[in-house]
Amino acid sequence: MLMTSLLTKKKLGQELTREEICFFVKGAADGTIPDYQLTAMLMAIRLNGMTARETVDLTLAMRDSGDIADLSAIPGIKVDKHSTGGVGDTVTLVAAPMVAACGVPVAKMSGRGLGHTGGTLDKLESIPGMSISLTEDAFIRQVKETGLAVIGQTGSLAPADKTLYALRDVTSTVDSLPLIVSSILSKKLASGSDGIVLDVKTGSGAIMHTVEDSIELARTMVEIGTMAGKKFAAIVTDMGQPLGTHVGNALEVKDAIDVLSGRTGGDLKEISLIIGALMLKLGGKAGSMEEGRAMLEKTIENGTALEKLRLMIAAQGGDPRVCDDVTLLPRPAVIRQAVCGRAGWVSAMNTEALGEAGRAMGAGRLELTDVIDPAVGFVLHPRIGDRVEEDTPLCTLYAKNEADADRAEEAVRAAITFSDEPCGRMPLYYAIITENGMIRPE
Ligand code: URA
Repeated sequence: MLMTSLLTKKKLGQELTREEICFFVKGAADGTIPDYQLTAMLMAIRLNGMTARETVDLTLAMRDSGDIADLSAIPGIKVDKHSTGGVGDTVTLVAAPMVAACGVPVAKMSGRGLGHTGGTLDKLESIPGMSISLTEDAFIRQVKETGLAVIGQTGSLAPADKTLYALRDVTSTVDSLPLIVSSILSKKLASGSDGIVLDVKTGSGAIMHTVEDSIELARTMVEIGTMAGKKFAAIVTDMGQPLGTHVGNALEVKDAIDVLSGRTGGDLKEISLIIGALMLKLGGKAGSMEEGRAMLEKTIENGTALEKLRLMIAAQGGDPRVCDDVTLLPRPAVIRQAVCGRAGWVSAMNTEALGEAGRAMGAGRLELTDVIDPAVGFVLHPRIGDRVEEDTPLCTLYAKNEADADRAEEAVRAAITFSDEPCGRMPLYYAIITENGMIRPE
C-alpha cells in the first residue's frame, strides 16, 4: 500500500477503507510513515472529514495500535474523565481527588496541552519532583494503595495517538470531529477504566465553537464508546470564558488546591462537582446527581479530597507540601497587576485568544520541541456579567520578564469586551448525554 495513494484519495474527499486506515495508523504508531505524510493526511481529514464508518475504524485502529491496559487487579469500578480541552480547565485536579475520597478508584491517563488549551500533565509537572511516567504495574499499585493516580499515557497505549496528537498540536489540525473522537476514545478504550465521563467544551475557547457541534461530538463519543463496551457519559460545558480564574500550569495547580481546601468556589468548583457526581454515578456510588454532589462537597469540608491529592503527589515523587503552601510552586521573575481602565460590564471574552496569550508567555508549546515554563500565565479577575470600575483589577500577570508581561497584558485586554449595559452570566453547561439520551438544564 502506498501512503501517497491514500493521501490522494483523502485529498479528493473519498472514503478510505478499513485496511487503508489501519495502514496509516500502523505507520503513525511504528514510525514507518514520515511526519510530513502523516501531517498531510491529518490536514486532508481536517478539511474533508470522515464518514461515520471511517471514524469508527480510525478509533478502533488507534485503540489497537498498542496494548490495552488491564486494571482488573484493582477492585471496584474504575472511573476516569477526559476533557476536549479548555482554558483554565483544571477539573481533573479537583474532581479526581474528590471522587477518589468517596471510595471510587480513579485511574486516570491524561494528556499534554493541545493548541491553545492546557494539559493536566504539564500542570502536574509544575509540582516540584512530580513524575507523570509510571509503569503499568506501578500505576495499578498506586491506585490500589491510594485510590488515585494521574499519569501520562504509557508508551505502549494508543501509540498512534501519541504521534498524531503531538503533530496536531502544532499543525492547526486539532478541530476535526473524527480526529478528536478517535484521539480521545482510542486512549480511553485502551486505558482500562470501566466508566468514563467526557467533558466536551463549547464556545470561544473550545475546539468546538458551537453548542450544536459540541453536542454532536459528545453524542458520537458516547455512542462509539458504549458500542465498544464501556460505560460513557458526556457533558457539554461552557468555554465562553476560562473555567477557572487561573491560566498557566503552576497557577492552575494553585487554583485546584484553593478549591479543594475550601478557600475558593466559583465555576471551577461547580463544574467539578457536576462532573464528579457523574463519575460517582458511573462508579455505582451515587444513585443521583444530588446524592453525588453532597458526597463530594463533604470531601472538601472534611479535608479528605485534599488529602487524596497530597497522597497522589507524594506517591508520584512530588512535594506534597504544595497542598498546604502554594508558594512552594514555581514563581516567575515578574508578577504585576493590570486594571480594567474603564467602567462597565464584562460582556464577552475571546477565550482562545486568552489561551494563546498564555501559550505565547511560555505556558504552552508553539513547536514540538518547545519546553514549557511552569511558572508563567495570568489570573483573570472579572467574569462575564460582572460590573467593573476603572480601577477594578483586570488580571495579575506572571511573566518571565517585563516585555512578556507587556505583550500578555495587551493580549488579555484585547480579548475582553466591555459593555455600557448590564449583561447576563454564561450558563455553566448545556447538556448531559448518557446512553439513555440527553438532559438539558432548566
Ligand atoms: N483531547 C484529546 O485527547 N484529543 C483531542 O483530539 C482533543 C482533546
